[in-house]
Amino acid sequence: MTLLEIFPSLRSGMASPRLDTTVWPSRTHYDELGRITVDGVALDDVADRYGTPTYVIGETEIHTRCRSYRAHFPDAEILYAAKALLTRTIAGLVVDEGLGIDVCSAGELAIALSAGVDPRRIILHGSGKPFAELEYAVGAGVGRIVIDSLTEVSLLGAIVDRPQQVLLRLTPDIDVHGHPAVRTGVSDQKFGFALHDETTEEAIRTLIDHPLLDLRGFHCHLGSQIHDPDHYGEAVRRLVARMAEVRHDYGVMLTQLDLGGGHAVAYRPGDAELNLSELADIIDDALDAACARNRFPRPVIAMEPGRGIVARAGVTIYRVTAIKHVPGGRTFVIVDGGMNDNPRVALYGARYDAVVAGRHPTGPTVTATVAGRYCEAGDILATDIRLPADLRVGELLAVPCTGAYQHSLASAYNGVGRPPIVALRDGRMRELVRRETAEDLLLRDLG
Ligand code: LLP
Repeated sequence: MTLLEIFPSLRSGMASPRLDTTVWPSRTHYDELGRITVDGVALDDVADRYGTPTYVIGETEIHTRCRSYRAHFPDAEILYAAKALLTRTIAGLVVDEGLGIDVCSAGELAIALSAGVDPRRIILHGSGKPFAELEYAVGAGVGRIVIDSLTEVSLLGAIVDRPQQVLLRLTPDIDVHGHPAVRTGVSDQKFGFALHDETTEEAIRTLIDHPLLDLRGFHCHLGSQIHDPDHYGEAVRRLVARMAEVRHDYGVMLTQLDLGGGHAVAYRPGDAELNLSELADIIDDALDAACARNRFPRPVIAMEPGRGIVARAGVTIYRVTAIKHVPGGRTFVIVDGGMNDNPRVALYGARYDAVVAGRHPTGPTVTATVAGRYCEAGDILATDIRLPADLRVGELLAVPCTGAYQHSLASAYNGVGRPPIVALRDGRMRELVRRETAEDLLLRDLG
């Protein structure tokens, strides 16, 4: 049963969809057969070779995004936030583009180190880092550690046996009005230290007094999907003022200011994204103003974009496994993946688009909801999107802008292993991470 058979009246109202460049990887086109190709490879061919669902990465897009950050912020340090998506190849690729890496666990650190990343280019952060992780990071020679609590000040103070650079994470109390799960810059949440309170003062004093802990500056992370660059300007003003207070109170000059990540990308055509040129201007102006007001030398700015580097590079491909119309209700297109490979819809109410990947549809479209295969009603991938009325079971659907927080958030719920990651470049495909199989699940189950 096709959607057109369900809705015969929709033969009129032809649509000719185009691939919006704001949500697809660079070098995404329709080929002469009408199939979607990314970096010179048809998604259909990826599905034939690796099955579905599969995370596809257009490598060129990652290079382009890294270069764009370097070009917009020539004086800043750009650290890729590994939590968005980390494989050894991707770690190597961003480092080759001149970025550092920001990791938040021993696992991410191990992947980055095994990719040959120079530990001095790695920053470790995270709330509640276990003692063993701090020990591992210090032993590995990680460049900087972002301190998140007084406990960490003591633990780190006890671990270090040579100088260790650290940053102190502050919450500048800036509300970016995002989803509550990802609003991190406001005061009443678990991260970092308040701008001013006794605990913050104690942390600063203890770090400055410690012979081996070398406090270099402050860190903050305001939240996710921030499209208004003014929030970063405000963070610069508040944190530079705080740095000037440290100079006044302790005679110590802090030189680094890490503004975290959170740069918004467009998930669907028309979504607001953060404009990097505007961000660069606003940070620059804020630095000028704040440094002049406080008579403070310009700190070196660091930024930690994750999504901004990899989101648009990713496309997830699925096979349609069933099509259903609920009388008086919605039309569901069910695919062979879902909330395991993309939990962002269920977690944050994220909205995605999906398109047919194996042909260029030009006929009528209908409104449908793309749902997954898992045993939960909330297992939805794309709500109320337009799909070709003649869509059939077995066809390939592609969901763009799935490079960030997909594989890294994925689960093996219902005993379905995580999909592989396949990178495309110049007409070639290479598997970066293989599919997780039932054998993998059994390996962990000791019986
Ligand atoms: N730096 C720090 C300290 C962070 O906590 C994060 C993200 C980043 C950088 C990178 O943020 P990005 O530029 O990628 O937005 N799972 C959520 C996102 C959680 C982000 C947590 N921290 C999602 O799928 O939207």
